[in-house]
Amino acid sequence: MDWKYLPIFPESASNFAPHVDALYAYLVAVSAFFSILIAIVIVVFAYKYQRKSDTEIPVPLNDHGAGSLILEVTWSVIPLLLSLVMFGWGAVIFFNESKPPADAMEIWVTGKQWMWKIQHLEGTREINELHIPVNRNIRLTLTSEDVIHDFYVPAFRTKTDVVPGRYTTEWFRPTKVGEYHLFCAEYCGTKHSGMVGTVYVMNEGDYEAWLTGGGAGTGSMAEKGAALFQQLGCVTCHAMDGKGRCPNLNGVYGSKVELKGGQVVTADASYIRESIVNPLAKIVNGYDGIMPTFQGLATEDQIQQLIEYVKSIGPKSGAASSLGAPEAGKAPRYPLPGNPKTPQKAATQKSPGAAQ
Ligand code: CUA
Repeated sequence: MDWKYLPIFPESASNFAPHVDALYAYLVAVSAFFSILIAIVIVVFAYKYQRKSDTEIPVPLNDHGAGSLILEVTWSVIPLLLSLVMFGWGAVIFFNESKPPADAMEIWVTGKQWMWKIQHLEGTREINELHIPVNRNIRLTLTSEDVIHDFYVPAFRTKTDVVPGRYTTEWFRPTKVGEYHLFCAEYCGTKHSGMVGTVYVMNEGDYEAWLTGGGAGTGSMAEKGAALFQQLGCVTCHAMDGKGRCPNLNGVYGSKVELKGGQVVTADASYIRESIVNPLAKIVNGYDGIMPTFQGLATEDQIQQLIEYVKSIGPKSGAASSLGAPEAGKAPRYPLPGNPKTPQKAATQKSPGAAQ
């Protein structure tokens, strides 16, 4: 749907926008139709059934023969069907927005009072700006350092809560090159209204130039994570030969991990984050709960780098570039000069514990 003649609407610039707008138009159309119908009927009936003389006495409805089962059923069933369409249509859009495609390009977002901090896997960082290539599936993994925020890009028709201590995801495919508003859509303190930014949707070439130009050279997220892994002393216990006092993290990302007590969990980003800030919450079977918490020692940004490092190590990562291996079963992330496109190889790549 093209809203350009109705300037109260934000631009429509993502794969979801036409669907959300169409559903919105349906809601407005149904509401308008019934509002007008009811208003007309009120006026017509008020005239038609008005008292004709001062002595006229109203006839009870049942004596009139006016009660009609067919009428009652009709005006119950039609609105039911109309509202079920709203429900079904909305649910389809909701599920589509909830399920990022496997080939999505990953970007990390941290909200804090009162700014948006963004990390690209290649290592580039930005604040209150998000640069992305057009026509690519983008998956944001979001968390907060303090209170609940909400990442909202009206032109994309997507909005996701950003919750402290938890990872949420939002995905979209920008369809139009341009600059779009980014808002925080959850009241988060006195400067909530200033927690805004700009999303820059760029052509592939411009994006690559931006990515290699802006802050590149400081190392990828996985490389920064590897350095942190040394600095924080993780490496002394999580020995890569499997003989350490803590589990070997090689290839653990995406695998099933058996915990003390027999419970099995998938080692995803949330699990790794929890293992860093609250190590005793889930203890791997065969190990003791000896790890201290790193809450406060590692920032959310650093935890994200550590997760990217853990993702990058594993039996298959030897052949991959230093930027880290793509997740098993997933296409490599955005190709860069020096990070050759190897979609066929990556698609068949399987790590032993791949979750998908
Ligand atoms: Cu952050 Cu409102």
